[in-house]
Amino acid sequence: MDSPYDLLIANAEVVTASDRFVADIGILDGKIQAVGRGLGAARETIDARGLLALPGGVDAHCHLDQPQQVGRMADDFKSGSRSAACGGTTTIIPFAAQMKGQSLRAAVEDYHRRATDKSCLDYAFHMIITDPTPEVLTQELPGLIQEGYTSFKVYMTYDDLKLNDRQILDVLDVAHQEGALVMVHAENSDCIGWLTDRLTGSGHTAPKYHAVSRPQAVEREATHRAITFSELADVPILIVHVSGSEAIEQIRWAHGRGLRIFAETCPQYLYLTAADLDVDGYEGAKCVCSPPPRDPANQEAVWRALSHNVFSVFSSDHAPYSYDDPDGKKPNGHEQHFHHIPNGIPGLETRLPLLFSGGVVGGRISIHQFVALTATQPAKLYGIYPRKGSIMVGADADIALWDPTLQVTIRNQRLHHNVDYTPYEGIDVTGWPIMTFSRGRLISKSFDFLGQAVAGQFIRCGKPILSF
Ligand code: URP
Ligand code: ZN
Ligand code: ZN
Repeated sequence: MDSPYDLLIANAEVVTASDRFVADIGILDGKIQAVGRGLGAARETIDARGLLALPGGVDAHCHLDQPQQVGRMADDFKSGSRSAACGGTTTIIPFAAQMKGQSLRAAVEDYHRRATDKSCLDYAFHMIITDPTPEVLTQELPGLIQEGYTSFKVYMTYDDLKLNDRQILDVLDVAHQEGALVMVHAENSDCIGWLTDRLTGSGHTAPKYHAVSRPQAVEREATHRAITFSELADVPILIVHVSGSEAIEQIRWAHGRGLRIFAETCPQYLYLTAADLDVDGYEGAKCVCSPPPRDPANQEAVWRALSHNVFSVFSSDHAPYSYDDPDGKKPNGHEQHFHHIPNGIPGLETRLPLLFSGGVVGGRISIHQFVALTATQPAKLYGIYPRKGSIMVGADADIALWDPTLQVTIRNQRLHHNVDYTPYEGIDVTGWPIMTFSRGRLISKSFDFLGQAVAGQFIRCGKPILSF
């Protein structure tokens, strides 16, 4: 049959960051060719009556196959991208991390080797700058920004990653000159070190003390300092993984002053608390991540800030370490002191259902805010819009078909990551993406991965779009 479309997704309720309407989506050569009523026949038709067609998620903060000083990540680009796909995500933006002493370009090339022929999803890279030498600042970074690596993360903590204040200002200045976006991990390193020494010195070494060693004050102070740097360097920044009310207050304060401060939060700050690190035995290690989860009042503060559009991006911060694994949180069965537990939790596959259920079904955010936070705004901020992040003619046919009423109990055995647990085990959610299309290819259906591991393409990022 001669047809203008390879695939027709018929009768779907299409939702974007601004609109909601019933339509057919005609797909040709991996692109959305038409969105309208009665588009006619196609080589293949899927009747999506009763389902929501949402833009495939853009997970703009995830760590895959990233070499670590402590532990080894359980997911590479193959397992990580499959897991993301089964949770309705179609684009991932992990980090190419520079090691101190390493050239930035060598770090980027290394990550290409890790991703190529492994990712089933399209991917871009942020960089992590740990060694801003004159060569990096004047040659490598400007060159790489021009080549499509237009965002990078700086750390204010972790000995192997952190920059001092002057170095951060130098990096921000390059972003100002070249039009890039800097992501900031805002926690005060010296305060954490001081508190950690006091805790371990008095024998407080259990996982729960991870949260005690990183109270909100250390995040609040660093957030304020990062905002000040952004003001001095006259460049927007994005504060990643904001955990609670005190950092949120700083961001609201900055917005009140007219500063262009963007912010991200993650599922762990909505669904976990510090009490999850304080469980019998050593299992609290499973929820060790930084900043740590806080308490129910702070969860509410994060929900409120989501509903008030304080945040622009909702990411997983997937940092996958198995629990009972030689390279994991309990290596060879040995319990670690809290400050030696690899930081991070898995979440690529559960990110969207957790926000959909608690946020949209729970009545805290609109479905348009959901799309904006999880797809459209990250695509704009990181320079891959309009190819990614919405459903419109000319965009890649990256689409998730959601059953908004499906009730699912999250179980690790149903997930596709390579981690031996999920921190969200047993949580009931309503709504799940039951079909995910990447450039028009059906890659996940009803919790099963269907795609090919090798089909993902590297995407060069354009300049950030900072107004939504
Ligand atoms: O604990 C976390 N978040 N680990 C991942 C690395 C980071 O800082 O994002
Ligand atoms: Zn971080
Ligand atoms: Zn992270």
